[in-house]
Amino acid sequence: MKKSLICLSVAEKTLSEAVKTINENKKYIDCAELRADFLVPQELVKANKFPKMAGIPVIFTLRKSADGGQFVGTETDRISFIRKALPGRYSYIDLEEGIVAPGLDAEAETAGSRIIRSFHDFNGVPSDLAQRIRALPRSSREIPKAAVMPVSTSDLMRLILAVREMPQSDKIVLGMGAVGFPTRVLATILGSFLSYVSANGRLAAPGHVDPETMNTLYGFRSISESTSVCGIIGSPLAGSRSPLIHNRGFRMLGIDAVYLPFPTDNLGDFFEIARLIRMKGVSVTIPYKEEVIRFAREVDRSVREAGACNTLVCRNGEFFGYNTDIDGFLAPLLGRFSGKLPAGTRATVVGAGGAGKACVYGLAREGAKVLIVNRTEEKARELAARYGCEWSGLGEGCDRKIAAYSDVIVQTTSAGMEPNEGEDPLSFYKFKGTEVVFDIVYKPPVTAFLSRAQKAGCRVIMGKEMLRDQAYIQFKHFTGREFPQELKDDPSLV
Ligand code: ATR
Repeated sequence: MKKSLICLSVAEKTLSEAVKTINENKKYIDCAELRADFLVPQELVKANKFPKMAGIPVIFTLRKSADGGQFVGTETDRISFIRKALPGRYSYIDLEEGIVAPGLDAEAETAGSRIIRSFHDFNGVPSDLAQRIRALPRSSREIPKAAVMPVSTSDLMRLILAVREMPQSDKIVLGMGAVGFPTRVLATILGSFLSYVSANGRLAAPGHVDPETMNTLYGFRSISESTSVCGIIGSPLAGSRSPLIHNRGFRMLGIDAVYLPFPTDNLGDFFEIARLIRMKGVSVTIPYKEEVIRFAREVDRSVREAGACNTLVCRNGEFFGYNTDIDGFLAPLLGRFSGKLPAGTRATVVGAGGAGKACVYGLAREGAKVLIVNRTEEKARELAARYGCEWSGLGEGCDRKIAAYSDVIVQTTSAGMEPNEGEDPLSFYKFKGTEVVFDIVYKPPVTAFLSRAQKAGCRVIMGKEMLRDQAYIQFKHFTGREFPQELKDDPSLV
């Protein structure tokens, strides 16, 4: 399998700034693309000097605005600027499929530049993508390039399927934006000649990451057919820390694996993708923890009991489901009690949604007597019947009941979570100071409820501890290895 190259797309105003950007990132890149459409006019006319200045193979690209670029002059001017750059002997020159410039192809060849014949679709993935890629090259030396914008899981699936129908010869195929991001990291597996990155926070195209992140977090250069691909599905995913946690764990232990975000709007399509790229592990978050169960060949007892699954591991082409939220919740809690809840522990769980259910199950499994308190009484009653617990609606009348179940109080509702910071679902309850109080919300790190508990002298547990611990357990499911202790102590992780 041919290794894909990392190409730094340089979108600077001057040639010397472009060289500086390349030099700063040299150890992380194989080649660069001069986005000449970002140059100021007096620099653009000197673009023929750039390949010598850069010292690495360079692509010359002068992208017009209709193709997502900055060049706003006439097409005649654009072609004239391209011609002026050619004597500089660029390694590659990007020419769009629609460009009309008789003789330019031959001039580029004579100048020693290999043509990248490109097309861009910022609105979706064309249904005939494979055919279009096939039809792009005007000679066998040309490299066809398609940059398309998948906006749904189905788009991403079609993109990956289309790649399989494309010729084995050199080609560049990538998905832009958050949905397309995995195609940038998996360029080698998908058979793309190169993958683009941007530096200095200047995103030359949607979905670029910086060269260092591509190398040190995603391990781009070590990705091959044998790499285990893992990822997270859910919606929304933008703030997820899971890619950071898992990738840093893989890198530190030298594990041949990569972990990617898959913003997902359709589970059926996602599992087709998972099959196509032979995914090894999947983390599942809101809103798919229940629906995902039917895609698993088997689930363990924790999933059956909690009715939710947040971890899938692939073995022999089939997925097996686990729930690490429960142990991730219990680990920091039991940590406050030297590893075991004292006999007769009485606990209150606020909330009866998916997360509440997992906490009730975990507490009951550890022998606690549980009171479930929920805004909608009916849901509290149903859940209580299932686990043989006490229940109550949420309101001033329940404070006495809570006081009787107050060794541990767990908050699992979205009250207090961004964007509802400041809300305190138990505002009527007066802490004694003896309670162990756990808010599973991690944004903000300390909710109004938790802050009040802390001020009253309670021992508190923040949501990020659960988030971290469930990820460490998941890591073990994916790799068979313990998450490295050194990283657990790194405050930048969660
Ligand atoms: P999750 O899977 O994250 O638990 P969920 O299943 O939608 O999400 O459950 C949300 C929980 O938060 C429910 O218990 C909900 O109470 P209702 O059953 O009455 O809807 C609770 N919740 C959400 N907003 C709340 C608020 N402002 N005050 C109190 N409880 C709230």
